[in-house]
Amino acid sequence: MATLHYFLFTSLLLYVSSPSLAQQSFRPKALVIPVAKDASTLQYRTTIRQRTPLVPVDLVVDLGGRFMWVDCQRDYVSSTYRPARCRSAQCSLAGADGCGDCFSTPRPGCNNNTCGVTPDNSVTHTATSGEVAQDVVSLQSTDGRNPGRVVSVPSFLFACAPTFLLQGLAGGAVGMAGLGRTRIGLPSQLAAAFSFRRKFAVCLSSSTSANGVVFFGDGPYVFLPGIDASQSLTFTPLFINPVSTASAFPMGEPSAEYFIGVKSIKVNEKPVSLNATLLSIDNQGVGGTKISTVDPYTVLEASIFKAITEAFINEAAAMNITRVGGVPPFEVCFSSSNILSTRLGPAVPSIDLVLQNENVFWRVFGANSMVEVSREVLCLGFVNGGSNPRTAIVVGGHSCSV
Ligand SMILES: *[C@@H]1O[C@H](CO)[C@@H](O)[C@H](O)[C@H]1NC(C)=O
Ligand SMILES: *[C@@H]1O[C@H](CO)[C@@H](O)[C@H](O)[C@H]1NC(C)=O
Ligand SMILES: *[C@@H]1O[C@H](CO)[C@@H](O)[C@H](O)[C@H]1NC(C)=O
Repeated sequence: MATLHYFLFTSLLLYVSSPSLAQQSFRPKALVIPVAKDASTLQYRTTIRQRTPLVPVDLVVDLGGRFMWVDCQRDYVSSTYRPARCRSAQCSLAGADGCGDCFSTPRPGCNNNTCGVTPDNSVTHTATSGEVAQDVVSLQSTDGRNPGRVVSVPSFLFACAPTFLLQGLAGGAVGMAGLGRTRIGLPSQLAAAFSFRRKFAVCLSSSTSANGVVFFGDGPYVFLPGIDASQSLTFTPLFINPVSTASAFPMGEPSAEYFIGVKSIKVNEKPVSLNATLLSIDNQGVGGTKISTVDPYTVLEASIFKAITEAFINEAAAMNITRVGGVPPFEVCFSSSNILSTRLGPAVPSIDLVLQNENVFWRVFGANSMVEVSREVLCLGFVNGGSNPRTAIVVGGHSCSV
């Protein structure tokens, strides 16, 4: 009972230098990290082993996050922690724009003559400054099917953050794992460390009881036994938003998030009339469509929300589906009594995000559009993003999961 939406993100960075070359002679082709959906926050979390001695570090996965950041203020103990010295290669790789001192006792996150970046809690949209640092991380290699041996990256770059930045993250999380399109985002840094292609694949689980994964490197990507997702992918170009969408960033920095080119939307295969201007990214970085793992549900700009939900309600009525009152945060809900259940989830009108041409579309079936708020009520899991949001369409975790 699962819709399979596999999206492959191929980083379009033009070059990448090697921040850290692995010492081992064994060179993995790909790495894999587990991703679990947190039941109370609906955030996606992973665990990476870091430091010396190695400890498991719980992180919230941020697809568009610029780098990994962790709380260094509390319980950071490691003999291999190294702050990035001012004007070092690490600072420039991290895009750090300042050097500073720390007027307190030296500790991880507080050293003199180091450079800083702005770790961003993209759930609460809070950013602060933090020391750039490197330490050992240890990850599971894979051949795409089975787990292989554990490998380590001796000097993995990340940012330190104060403990308060964790507010709003899933319980136990001590930072965020940014998979964004920067030179120190996990995909680029791991690809550079092991000289594999800057490619990664994400499989999110819709359930809080089954794990998903992120693969770094080349496929196969066997998410379910016997099914290599790299054989059945839909490809679409990624777009660069020229203006950063982070909470705080250096002037002129493009967004590290992954934007796709939605050209139109269809409900039950019928085009819905939308203001097309909103679908493209303007020179202020406003508009367009991005994919997010920190937004649990898809968020639509107000006029798009209105047009899509009206079309959906009409199509549902034609299928004899009875509308009931909204259940926040959802405005459009239905009685589940005459909604059939299928392999692709509840039988409701389909929603197609039409991409580069009419033949390439991302079909959102019931499993990825509907949320069961109770045994009797199913809601369309899209929320109204109001007028003038920064990004017109934010495709959230529920629409991307299997
Ligand atoms: C940084 O240097 C200043 C001035 O020399 C000193 O007061 C402070 O304790 C130092 N901080 C650290 C973290 O070493
Ligand atoms: C379409 O959206 C753009 C950008 O928000 C806005 O300037 C324009 O007035 C809108 N057009 C219509 C017909 O609503
Ligand atoms: C909807 O219900 C009406 C009246 O009960 C019936 O005539 C019609 O065939 C039904 N349509 C569908 C699509 O089930």
